[in-house]
Amino acid sequence: MYWKPEVYRIENAESVFSPGLLIFRDLVEQNLVEMVRIAGGPERLRPHCKTHKTQEVVKIALRLGVTRHKCATIAEAEMLADVGVQDILIAYQMVGPNLQRLVRLAQKYPDVELATLVDHPQAVTQLSRAIQESGDPGVSIRVLVDLNSGMNRTGISIGPRAIELYEMIYSSDALKIGGLHWYDGQHRQCDLAERTGAVNAGWDQLIRFRDQLLLSGLPVPCIVAAGTGSFPVLADHGEPNLELSPGTTVYHDDDMATRFPEMKFQPALAILTRVVSCNRANELTLDVGHKACAADQPAGQRLAFPELSSVKELTHSEEHLVIHTPDANQFKIGDHLIAFPRHACPTSAVYQAAHVIVGGNVAEQWEIVGRDRVLTI
Ligand SMILES: Cc1ncc(COP(=O)(O)O)c(C=O)c1O
Repeated sequence: MYWKPEVYRIENAESVFSPGLLIFRDLVEQNLVEMVRIAGGPERLRPHCKTHKTQEVVKIALRLGVTRHKCATIAEAEMLADVGVQDILIAYQMVGPNLQRLVRLAQKYPDVELATLVDHPQAVTQLSRAIQESGDPGVSIRVLVDLNSGMNRTGISIGPRAIELYEMIYSSDALKIGGLHWYDGQHRQCDLAERTGAVNAGWDQLIRFRDQLLLSGLPVPCIVAAGTGSFPVLADHGEPNLELSPGTTVYHDDDMATRFPEMKFQPALAILTRVVSCNRANELTLDVGHKACAADQPAGQRLAFPELSSVKELTHSEEHLVIHTPDANQFKIGDHLIAFPRHACPTSAVYQAAHVIVGGNVAEQWEIVGRDRVLTI
């Protein structure tokens, strides 16, 4: 269990309006150091910023030598570029007006090495057209082929059509070939041996495909792969041109901590919530409604309260969470509790700013800049 009262103590909790997002700065740094260690060096990491969307976290990563970053939106990419990241992969297929926004991003940050994904010939055509229509010869975008790792979310399946797609990018005048993208986030097995087997079965297929491209004379500058569950397994392969892209590990969360107990990451994000009503025996009503934490998990499984001996989430509405706990009589109205979200990434995105805890005190505020859909572009 990750809970350690001395690690999560807050001396000046009264300065936090509840519900309030808490980030434990030293734990963020420790998690990043552990990510670098597992990857085998900062140059082998391309962390996904969707978890934190925060420039201060990027600054810590840059200080540790992690210069390559991944994101999902134009706003996140702008957040990264603004803080000085020079190598950004938008791991999302651009469609509709986002194609022109991508071009504008490239124009705004001409020194940034910008890359994106495609998984269909129509996307190659549309992206090439958007770049050509800009009439700007300075717009240079690397394009990686997004392969379906078996997750069945995005990506083209390995096979002849994927080779054709790769050749299409390679022969396009408007695009630069970037390599392969492989997100295998479906591998969430608690059993490490089972997970390792499943991750490696996918990896073997990927490497055979990469070798086939190389044999056909096509360059594969890099492979960007992995999420939290798979990245320690893939890191062990020692593949030179591999960039590992975990995201959640920066903050970690209750789900990952309980699912992957062998990992040494420590939850660095929590919510400070207060008791707003306590009229029924063994029940507390807290101000952490589902507008204040990730609500993508099933009702009843959204938050962990390790300070309490046992908890059952009874009802969760917009501004309230009712819990059943035998410890309820130890609390009065206004008392606070620390809740750990099951899923950190969508939790950070619902807050404008986080209270950052250093040495047991709220020391600063970090704005969650990348949560906005539009910054300037
Ligand atoms: C494309 C892509 N890459 C990397 C990640 C990071 O994965 P994880 O959050 O499991 O660390 C995600 C997460 O959603 C993703 O969608």
